[in-house]
Amino acid sequence: MTTPDDIGSLKLFSRRVVLADRETAATVVVEDGIIVAVETDHQRDDAVDLGDDLLIPGLVELHTDHLEPHYQPRPKVHWDPLSAVFAYDAQIASSGITTVFDSLRIGSDDDRPTTADGLLDLSEAIEMAKGTGLLRSDHHTHLRCEIPSRGVVEEAESYLARFDVRLMSLMDHTPGQRQFRDEEKLRTYYRGKTGLSEADLDQLFANRRARAAEIGEPNKRGLVALAHRAGIALASHDDTFEDHVAESVADRVSIAEFPTTVEAARASHAAGISVLMGAPNVVRGGSHSGNVSAVDLAAAGVLDILSSDYVPISLIHGAFGLRDVPAVGGLAGAIQTVTLKPALATGMTDRGEIAATKRADLVRVAMVGTQPVVREVWRTGRRIA
Ligand SMILES: [Fe+2]
Repeated sequence: MTTPDDIGSLKLFSRRVVLADRETAATVVVEDGIIVAVETDHQRDDAVDLGDDLLIPGLVELHTDHLEPHYQPRPKVHWDPLSAVFAYDAQIASSGITTVFDSLRIGSDDDRPTTADGLLDLSEAIEMAKGTGLLRSDHHTHLRCEIPSRGVVEEAESYLARFDVRLMSLMDHTPGQRQFRDEEKLRTYYRGKTGLSEADLDQLFANRRARAAEIGEPNKRGLVALAHRAGIALASHDDTFEDHVAESVADRVSIAEFPTTVEAARASHAAGISVLMGAPNVVRGGSHSGNVSAVDLAAAGVLDILSSDYVPISLIHGAFGLRDVPAVGGLAGAIQTVTLKPALATGMTDRGEIAATKRADLVRVAMVGTQPVVREVWRTGRRIA
């Protein structure tokens, strides 16, 4: 039995502790939620022996949409938002994620109405859940802003006045641009989703292009200014050309989410902007929208961060999937893409590696063949999964 005095304090020994730069046998000593010592090549008698299992830092997830299917499990069905938040949190924690940026969208890209009402319900539920002290992972907000939407700057401004936001991303899903520069891919997506005729789609796409030409630039300027005024980290989204990266540099963007080409990823990485790709892209062996493969970017040495995007468990699977890519730096380098690098890109210097003075966010991983299985998870030394 754990007594209140034990909470946040423990000693774990693993033959495979993954440090930031290497794998080693070590005893990790935790007091009051903080790692106080990493005794390499030493097994303390009073430490819990993890056998053949690995010990890695708790994962840091910057972009997950996975709250959405918990809140809206069917197109017209809304689940109780507080129940959705707790169920989602449990899945996040059991995927080894100890710090999560819940992605919430504002603005519309026409495949769904503006999320304003659901957004506020969910945001209030997250706040309420945090207030109970019962959430397993450490939750922050990533506000995803669709630039060419009417009123998006005002919507973001009133959101920031009510809720704490740590990351804002700037998206533009206009047909013929970025993620959908091959317009046919967007047509296929809409055909499947809406059943609109070709003539209706022509009209819809023409409307969206006209709206982007009219309000895209002023909205972008407004959102960038808002983020800088509030001291919030900025991410660009679906960068395709070097011009997009030049814009990001001018806008002081720190993360490039899902660049669609090697050129854009290379330019971002060279400019010191962290390149984030979807872990499902690694696991599935390519992009679902036909864009650049994350493994190719890793091989080119320009992939910095993985994100689980829409499948929480993909984060750990994606990281392990990168360990044999030569430019990544072995398992330690692969694990950095889901721990230290996303932490640093969002200004969190207190976590993301197993080292003295860091938060004791830890994951015990068993290997089943080549598959990592999350066996135990601690956040600040407390067992959460
Ligand atoms: Fe996108």
